[in-house]
Amino acid sequence: MRIFSGIRPTGNIHIGNYLGAVKQWIELQEKNECVFCIVDLHAITTPYDPKELQKNILDAASIYLAAGVNPEKSIIFVQSEVKEHAELAWLLETITPMGELSRMTQYKEKSKQYKDYVNAGLFAYPVLMAADILLYRAKAVPVGKDQEQHVELARTIAKKFNQKFGQIFPEPETILPKTGAKIMSLTNPKKKMSKTDDPKSYISLFDSPEDITKKIMSAETDSGKEVVYNITKKPGISNLLIIYSLITGKTTQEIEKQFKGKGYGEFKKSLAKVLADYLEPFRRKQKELQTRDVYVKEMLSQGASRAKTIAETTMKEVRSKMGLS
Ligand code: TYM
Repeated sequence: MRIFSGIRPTGNIHIGNYLGAVKQWIELQEKNECVFCIVDLHAITTPYDPKELQKNILDAASIYLAAGVNPEKSIIFVQSEVKEHAELAWLLETITPMGELSRMTQYKEKSKQYKDYVNAGLFAYPVLMAADILLYRAKAVPVGKDQEQHVELARTIAKKFNQKFGQIFPEPETILPKTGAKIMSLTNPKKKMSKTDDPKSYISLFDSPEDITKKIMSAETDSGKEVVYNITKKPGISNLLIIYSLITGKTTQEIEKQFKGKGYGEFKKSLAKVLADYLEPFRRKQKELQTRDVYVKEMLSQGASRAKTIAETTMKEVRSKMGLS
């Protein structure tokens, strides 16, 4: 089965991105043909610094590699290096109803957050995402909960295209992780952890052990002092328990037992330690790859040429079905 997924290179990829998406990719690449993209064309729909973009792309590549994406097996590439993404997005825009796009939760949230930056690209963002997936005729898309609505729209667009012009695209399914599909903010456990919020609200995959400790120790918790999982009464502690569980592989019940009668402070200290240890390879890989950017660029360029071969074949069929040359 072919799988497609991607991350925006925004410079502060966090444990929510990792636990919600990337961690699943590693298991999926064993038995599937995987295409993992660094979606720079999506990253420029919200305010960004052009001088930082290339560095952020290389950082995203080092996260893929540190997490265990195998470039010999899976395709890793940068979206803008395969021009067919932009071309297919334009073609799909001509069959995407405006009404569908204006319902998108992410568009509503982002246009509120960036009032002076509400551009047509932000509005059409989900169509570019559909193009990403459909270009490779991917059957499944491993993402976190916040992207589920966009994958559903990609299904709608695929169906519409197939009905109007003839069968080309499979209708892609979302793959959500059983737990961790929505990691919450450390400063407000009622909101999802987000790259564009205050850095205190997320743990970046490259944070130093000192920063991790500071952020976890000051993470918002709930009244009481018992470490128990209860998402409605104790959303803060429950979020930290989920993170602890995903990082250590222990169940939340096992962790509750481990910290019975010990209070929040001790639990948080232990979480900070397990997180800092777990993320050590990410920091190391980033440092190592900073000195080997020739290797990373070469890997990305090979990925792009493998991606291009698939993309060109799809585009030939799409153009022909749509009556273009
Ligand atoms: P992005 O860069 O915002 O996020 C990358 C991945 O991380 C997941 N995620 C989370 N999972 C759990 N808890 C959270 N708090 C959390 N925050 C983010 C996201 O669901 C995503 O899987 N539009 C996409 C990128 C994209 C894409 C695609 C994905 C572009 N084209 C095609 C799949 C297929 C995005 O902005 O992800």
